[in-house]
Amino acid sequence: MSMDGVLRLYFGESNVPTPDYIKQAAVRAMNDGFTFYTENAGLPSLRRALADYYRRLQNVELDPAREIVITASGVQALNLGIRAVLDPGTETIALTPSWPNGSANAMMDHSKVIQLAHPLCGDRYRIDFDALERAVTPNTRLIFYTSPSNPLGWVATEEEQQRILDFARRHNLWLLADEVYDRLYYSGAKLGDPAPSILRKATRDDAVMVVHSFSKSYCMTGWRLGYLIARADLAMKCTQLNEFVVSHAPSFTQKAGETALAEGEPELLRFLERLKQNRDLCLDALSSMPGLTVPKPDGAFYLFPRVEGLTDSFSFCRRLLEETRVGLAPGVAFGEGGEGSVRICYAAEQSILEPAMERFSKFLRAGA
Ligand SMILES: Cc1ncc(COP(=O)(O)O)c(C=O)c1O
Repeated sequence: MSMDGVLRLYFGESNVPTPDYIKQAAVRAMNDGFTFYTENAGLPSLRRALADYYRRLQNVELDPAREIVITASGVQALNLGIRAVLDPGTETIALTPSWPNGSANAMMDHSKVIQLAHPLCGDRYRIDFDALERAVTPNTRLIFYTSPSNPLGWVATEEEQQRILDFARRHNLWLLADEVYDRLYYSGAKLGDPAPSILRKATRDDAVMVVHSFSKSYCMTGWRLGYLIARADLAMKCTQLNEFVVSHAPSFTQKAGETALAEGEPELLRFLERLKQNRDLCLDALSSMPGLTVPKPDGAFYLFPRVEGLTDSFSFCRRLLEETRVGLAPGVAFGEGGEGSVRICYAAEQSILEPAMERFSKFLRAGA
């Protein structure tokens, strides 16, 4: 990070600053007195706004008083939800490659994590349902997946969602879906449509929880604002647990989140259009590079090319960085199935992406 002149595509965020209307909302909230403690589950007004948002965008009915817990980030939602369902000695199934914090949280709860890689079939990642059946034991308590995926950009199909829900029901498991990238979706009927949530398939009585965040859709990574949607009994436990973790997300940040939900659509659409162009620009460049397999992602802002013959993605990324000043994330960081690939975050300006793609291409052609 201290190296000069690096084209940084390893981050999990865009370099677009938080839009002004959100910053102004936080200032207004502070002036209006939102500087005191709030409820552990978050401001009722934000929870109501989220319930409206889910009705409008996902056609899902949520009880804002019982099924939504506001958290100080998506990471904290993961932490609460996972901690609330795992005991030491339990087992957790994680669909990988995935952003490592889910597995790390389960391990912190002394649960054994079984990572199952998404197989790449042709140009699409899938779920290996036979491997899932083999992995489940009497100690398995939780299964989690991320859709849209970081780092794959893979989005679960409706059929895959139904099958994974049926699997969780059949084995009496908690199902956690990390949907923080649901608005960064390029394959809907129109741009701006969210990736369908598992909540459309699950009933409110299912042992299902969804982790969410304001970080990605509204360029609010540093604000630390997220939420957990869960069956009412679990949401209550997480609310109680929150008291001893951070108690609640900052009050004025929560108010700013309300404004993001109410006014954010035009800015979000512009962001999506830019991301889609970036994705296509990078896909185009990568498709002409030697030895790469690059599935076309339907969501999030990552590409995860597999590099033929690569067995040490960490040293590959280190050499790429030292020799070309292009920073990518090594696939090995994302668990089982990640080695042999690199993650490219394309949420940067084209003036960064274009030279990065050129340098990456030269590096590969030089026989990296
Ligand atoms: C898959 C996934 N889930 C959750 C998060 C957490 O986001 P935050 O803690 O910024 O809300 C991230 C951030 O990179 C992510 O990639």
